[in-house]
Amino acid sequence: MTPERERRASELVARYPESQSALIPFLQFCQAHDGYVTQQAIHDAAEIAGITPGEAESIASFYTLLFKEPVGKHKIQVCRTLSCMLRGADELQQHVRQRLGLGNGESSPDGRFYYEEVECLAACDRAPCLQHNLEFHYDVTPEDFDRLLDEWRASDPGVSMPAE
Ligand code: FES
Repeated sequence: MTPERERRASELVARYPESQSALIPFLQFCQAHDGYVTQQAIHDAAEIAGITPGEAESIASFYTLLFKEPVGKHKIQVCRTLSCMLRGADELQQHVRQRLGLGNGESSPDGRFYYEEVECLAACDRAPCLQHNLEFHYDVTPEDFDRLLDEWRASDPGVSMPAE
């Protein structure tokens, strides 16, 4: 483990009564650096949590924002569960796919975007719901998505974007 990761692991373990609680935040920390959850990160996380790498991998697999392979920097997830579907998620999904030029589970070739349709994001009363990295957006219309895409583009200039 690198000194930086050892420092972060110590901080996280000290923060919680059970060291296993540090597992997910530690993996998020590693993913922020590596772009995805590497096997080394799984091994390191298992070590600090006092569990086996297989157990760590199994736990991590429940979290839709932990990725086992490199994906686009802007991770866009649209809910596909009932409340959102009843309030226009299918139209939003079609629009997002068209704007990004991506299918479900795909990343753009430039590494900029990743798109995924996911199960309930626990914001059913504000459907349809979209998550961008760790940020939630509620009652999202296709027009809202266009505005958000412009904001993400403006905040991250200098890299080619999907076709208009
Ligand atoms: S059904 Fe979409 S957030 Fe719950």
